[in-house]
Amino acid sequence: MSTKNELVNVMQKDYDTSLVAKEVEIDFYALSDLELLINGGYSPLRGFMNQEDYEEVLHSMRLKNGSIWPLPITLPVDEAIAKDLTLGSKIKLTYQGEVYGILLLEEKFLPNKEEEALQAYKTTDREHPGVKRLFERGDVYLAGDVIGIKQYEREKFGNFYLTPAETRAEFSSRNWERVVGFQTRNPVHRAHEYIQKAALEIVDGLFLNPLVGETKSDDISAEIRIESYQVLLENYYPKDRVFMAFFPAAMRYAGPREAVFHALVRRNYGCTHFIVGRDHAGVGNYYGTYEAQEIFHNFNLHELGIRPLFFEHTFFCQKCGNMASSKTCPHGKEHHLTLSGTKVREMLRQGIVPPPEFTRAEVAQVLIKGLQDS
Ligand code: ADX
Repeated sequence: MSTKNELVNVMQKDYDTSLVAKEVEIDFYALSDLELLINGGYSPLRGFMNQEDYEEVLHSMRLKNGSIWPLPITLPVDEAIAKDLTLGSKIKLTYQGEVYGILLLEEKFLPNKEEEALQAYKTTDREHPGVKRLFERGDVYLAGDVIGIKQYEREKFGNFYLTPAETRAEFSSRNWERVVGFQTRNPVHRAHEYIQKAALEIVDGLFLNPLVGETKSDDISAEIRIESYQVLLENYYPKDRVFMAFFPAAMRYAGPREAVFHALVRRNYGCTHFIVGRDHAGVGNYYGTYEAQEIFHNFNLHELGIRPLFFEHTFFCQKCGNMASSKTCPHGKEHHLTLSGTKVREMLRQGIVPPPEFTRAEVAQVLIKGLQDS
């Protein structure tokens, strides 16, 4: 399976930005996208999508050149800002006043956001956090290749902040040929741990790659989750089989399409396998439990460049005395311990340690403390 996807490296730290007159202030969501465009996480994309690619992505989950790409990567700005920008010019992209990149403005276009919501998120309901975000952002999309000027400093993420080139180098120095990637926007609970370790049984290494970009307000923040991941790895995972680095992207909550997006980006980070469990990247009841797995049937493995590993909904079975799924457990639901993410967050916020069959006590303690201090 090919994992040597060509990485785009367009960081030019010595670029003279004083020669570029115009600048546009971008939001944190776009800053994450800019970073992944620059570091090759979004390869083969080299910039924010033009209208042709955008429409092709919405309707066929492919770029105009035929490469699989399931979600739009766009740079929305307000109309008043867009009208002053000249096609063919260079624009500084700033975040909190600092220049992070240069956009070579190729096109400006008006998206049909209703259509985008319907295709990408399968709903136009403004209650959906991804759709809500889509409509909150600017109404004109700027398109064009980008040049990286500076990497956003994420000091709080310490040594766990790596580019795809660096994670590939790390996997190769560990002689890992088969690496399974794991996406999460949550603390790692027992169900996550179970599917990670089940996957690890058949590959060389596990790449724990928690998302630390923008998430919805009631998700547990990245700052609080970080220590919980470290405590868990320290106590329950073999160091030479697991490697963690953070994933800077914003969460879209786009369920099935986001699962494919997550897999492709982890391919770029050097993974050969990717875990897709129940309702991957889902929210509320917008997607079917296994829709994020079924969508992969549209693609050929060779073309994807990464093998998805599908897991059933897992739970702790009191009769089995271990984690299980309907594939491995013969007992009735009355013996199964399942807590929703919302319920667990509620317990943690109230300082209640969830049952050990759901969360490791060390993890719960870190989260309770983090939530109380925040
Ligand atoms: S996600 O939005 O990042 O997908 P989450 O952090 O909850 O949310 O899930 C991370 C991964 O674990 C996803 O692949 C998800 O499908 C899987 N997962 C979460 N909980 C379970 C569970 N109980 N059983 C099986 N898979 C699960």
